[in-house]
Amino acid sequence: MKRRAGDLKVRAVEARREGREREAKSKKSPSRPDLGVLSRRIRVCTECPLHASRTQAVPGEGHPQAKVVIIGEAPGRQEDQTGRPFVGSAGKYLDHVLEGTGFERQDFFITNIVKCRPPANRMPKVKEIDTCTSLYLFEQIRLINPRLILLLGGVAARKMLGAKSVEEVRGRVIEQAGRRFLASYHPAVRFYREDLAEKIKEDFRLLQKELAKLPPDL
Ligand code: URA
Repeated sequence: MKRRAGDLKVRAVEARREGREREAKSKKSPSRPDLGVLSRRIRVCTECPLHASRTQAVPGEGHPQAKVVIIGEAPGRQEDQTGRPFVGSAGKYLDHVLEGTGFERQDFFITNIVKCRPPANRMPKVKEIDTCTSLYLFEQIRLINPRLILLLGGVAARKMLGAKSVEEVRGRVIEQAGRRFLASYHPAVRFYREDLAEKIKEDFRLLQKELAKLPPDL
């Protein structure tokens, strides 16, 4: 009789433990999407007015555990047509400066502050930026957990670092909110500000230097 009571007690303790484990598991899984789920959500997103004029949303692409996430402003015409980031003329220049780092485009994760092309390439509005980053970009960064974030252009520097200009934040690593950032000019400025080409190259040399400091197994 004594033995049976002991067995029942052990079983009750086990049942309670299993219940707690089940509860913890069910709390973890439903609300945390992976990068693929996020991309699919972005492609059908209608949360801001930019969805109405887009051809395709551009979630971003690259290595899911990239050491560096590169963030531009917004898709342009070719990105809107292909659904891929930085594939137009600014993208060609970005590829060129990335080559100098010894890494390939696929080693990075490349995306934008907003995922849909603003009409006639106007600047994205604050409300569009806030909606898109809070729904998608911040979650992409959390999932990838990069060692460095490279911001390209004033829109990205303003949103992610609160900077007034790229000039204010470029040329050094900035640590903020537990992340490390580098900032540079948007590659498109190269086409109307030839004088900035050298500064852009300098910024990518700094990226290369920072990459070299990271453990190779990452
Ligand atoms: N400019 C950007 O900021 N992002 C792109 O994807 C293309 C051009």
